[in-house]
Amino acid sequence: MTGKLLITGASGLLGLNLALRCLDRTEVIGIANQTRLQSLPFELIQAELTQPGIFPDLLEKHQPELIIHCAAMANVDDCEARPQEAHHVNGLLPGELAAAAAERDIRFIHISTDAVFDGVDSGENGYEEQDKTNPINVYAMSKLAGERSVLAANPNAVVARVNFFGWSVSGTRSLSEFFYNNLNAGKSIFGFTDVFYTPLYVGDLAEILWELGSSDVQGLYHVFGSRAISKYQFGVMIADRFVLDASLIQPTSWRDAGLQAVRSPNLIMNSQKLKQDLGISLVDPEESMEHFYQDWHDGLPERLKSFRIDY
Ligand SMILES: NC(=O)c1ccc[n+]([C@@H]2O[C@H](COP(=O)([O-])OP(=O)(O)OC[C@H]3O[C@@H](n4cnc5c(N)ncnc54)[C@H](OP(=O)(O)O)[C@@H]3O)[C@@H](O)[C@H]2O)c1
Repeated sequence: MTGKLLITGASGLLGLNLALRCLDRTEVIGIANQTRLQSLPFELIQAELTQPGIFPDLLEKHQPELIIHCAAMANVDDCEARPQEAHHVNGLLPGELAAAAAERDIRFIHISTDAVFDGVDSGENGYEEQDKTNPINVYAMSKLAGERSVLAANPNAVVARVNFFGWSVSGTRSLSEFFYNNLNAGKSIFGFTDVFYTPLYVGDLAEILWELGSSDVQGLYHVFGSRAISKYQFGVMIADRFVLDASLIQPTSWRDAGLQAVRSPNLIMNSQKLKQDLGISLVDPEESMEHFYQDWHDGLPERLKSFRIDY
């Protein structure tokens, strides 16, 4: 891959980390919507992607070789509150962008989620790509619609189901930051013992997305860590790695937390297809945590904050 990389959602947790990681490999153009950032080391365009007819113009103007579509309404409770908007942004737009990419022979990667599964029974080996989906909230339904609209419009596209953590420009976007910020402030917090997932550090995810973009594989891929953990265990891992007090995390059930949208409790994901097709090693939670810690140690949270202008 030597041509331009266009990243939508480039002010978001994934999009910004991805853009910063890909800069030294190729020219990156990011698209953000409402978040304004300064002093970025790549070009950032402000654009509302729901504007009719925006995609052909964008692609004609910038001529990317690869698009990684990270933009989404990614807040589960916002989707519950504004379902029509969620279906438009997460369900319809990805298909329109995928079609515009197909017409111009631009490689296209769409980001989806483990939440397309209900998390009731992930089987012995975790959910695989061909397993039956059953989304249980508006966010998950809209994301599943997005997967389908992309693959219908562009059979050469890759749909990557992901779940990740990392450092964001707001400093509060991710579960990892929630644990870190509260533990660092000495505040007591809940950690769900009955919600399992298979997270990957956003930097490791970015590396794999680059590999996917540079390959010629197509279709659905699970891009997760090698092993599942509970959200409580995840919090304890953060406390341990950053030498903070793990006893501040109170083990609890998600059912007692008064959340607006229902959650899938058991998202144990299997990424063996990715390993086989791309020949890459899956990353375990300890290694992901180490990379999260190293980026903190190297000043990534401060660097991200330096891009902010309107907080
Ligand atoms: N975070 C997770 O753990 C997680 C887990 C599973 C899957 N995912 C998926 O991963 C992808 C990235 O998630 P994230 O956590 O990085 O999201 P995020 O931090 O909430 O960022 C969302 C991005 O999308 C942009 N956006 C939203 N609506 C837009 C619109 N109408 N027009 C243009 N841009 C728009 C936002 O722009 P502005 O902020 O500038 O308005 C922002 O850059 C999403 O597809 C999400 O569904 C995330």
